[in-house]
Amino acid sequence: MAKVRIYQLAKELGMSNEELLEILDSMGVEYKSHASTLEDETAAAVKELIGEQRLAEEARKAEEARKAIPHRAPVVVIMGHVDHGKTSLLDYLRKSRIAEKEAGGITQHVGAFEVKTKGGTVVFIDTPGHEAFTSIRERGAKVADIAVIVVAADDGVMPQTREAIAHAKAAGAKLIFAANKMDLPQASLEKVYQGLMKEGIVPVAYGGEAEVLPISAKTGQGVQDLLETILITAELEDLRADPNAEATGVVLESRIDKQAGVLASLLVQQGTLKVGDYVVAGEHWGKIRAMTDSEGVRRNQTGPSTAVQVLGFSEPPSAGTAFEWVPDQVAAKEITEERRLEREAREVAPEVGRPRNIADLLR
Ligand code: GTP
Ligand code: MG
Repeated sequence: MAKVRIYQLAKELGMSNEELLEILDSMGVEYKSHASTLEDETAAAVKELIGEQRLAEEARKAEEARKAIPHRAPVVVIMGHVDHGKTSLLDYLRKSRIAEKEAGGITQHVGAFEVKTKGGTVVFIDTPGHEAFTSIRERGAKVADIAVIVVAADDGVMPQTREAIAHAKAAGAKLIFAANKMDLPQASLEKVYQGLMKEGIVPVAYGGEAEVLPISAKTGQGVQDLLETILITAELEDLRADPNAEATGVVLESRIDKQAGVLASLLVQQGTLKVGDYVVAGEHWGKIRAMTDSEGVRRNQTGPSTAVQVLGFSEPPSAGTAFEWVPDQVAAKEITEERRLEREAREVAPEVGRPRNIADLLR
């Protein structure tokens, strides 16, 4: 193969002769002019260097683009063993939020509510049983960024605490522990620490990474610290969402109201959802006719990390289903019809490899 001349290589790399000469100078390569030939190794070294520079430039641009996307509020789910205080903690958080506003207000159940602090806003999922959280996990999507695992400090780590930890980890959520009921005389933070250690979770107090906050959902002691820890954790996660993107998110819950019709609570994760938008969720679609936020306020639009109750689905989409914006009714109908047919085809297909009866099982 003929040796490459500088001007040929410059052309190949899509740069000017001057630019390439500058690079050769920096590499200490000698030449007479842009018509000089280069050794094969030199040409290869130049290509490698340019390749690296371009990759670095691309990475820098990608990082810049990411940084241009605004931060969003963390979405938090509260989990834990039965009677350890999940509902009490949510109630306390909800109450303190209302008291702050002094609205004493009419709150609407939309499956999530916001707590505003000086350090930022935190969104708590309060859908009963956190169906959405569990079922979406099976579909590989993510509802909550952070899971607060409530452990009653008089009781310690229990079977459903372990289950909650496993679920939260599988869902890719960051874990924060709340040692609850610290107002009780028999409460023992040490007991919670020991229980967590048995699960391989090392509290910060023991030199590990796990945040364990002593709280009382009854008195409110420590709840502020818990909120701060949530916000610090969220900051480290660098959560961002583009409000200009097409709206996507998750159905938190849905029901049929005798008067209003189908009501669905949606958590918007990306983009901005607007009244008049068409959305699909699984096999159902809707045209958003009205939206209400958790304060009971009618909204025309709502951005990332907010939950709203919407009117406009013809049938209730199931909790945990992802929803997405589609341009119009034609798209909405075609996409949902496709999904229905796909499911029906799956259902009639023979279930290969699955045991059909006891004999099969014992084979
Ligand atoms: P399930 O939804 O049934 O799993 O329970 P939960 O985890 O939601 O617990 P819940 O908030 O209903 O609390 C259970 C009991 O513990 C209730 O009687 C609460 O009043 C009580 N409780 C919750 N938090 C505290 C606390 O911080 N201190 C004390 N003393 N009691 C608490
Ligand atoms: Mg409860």
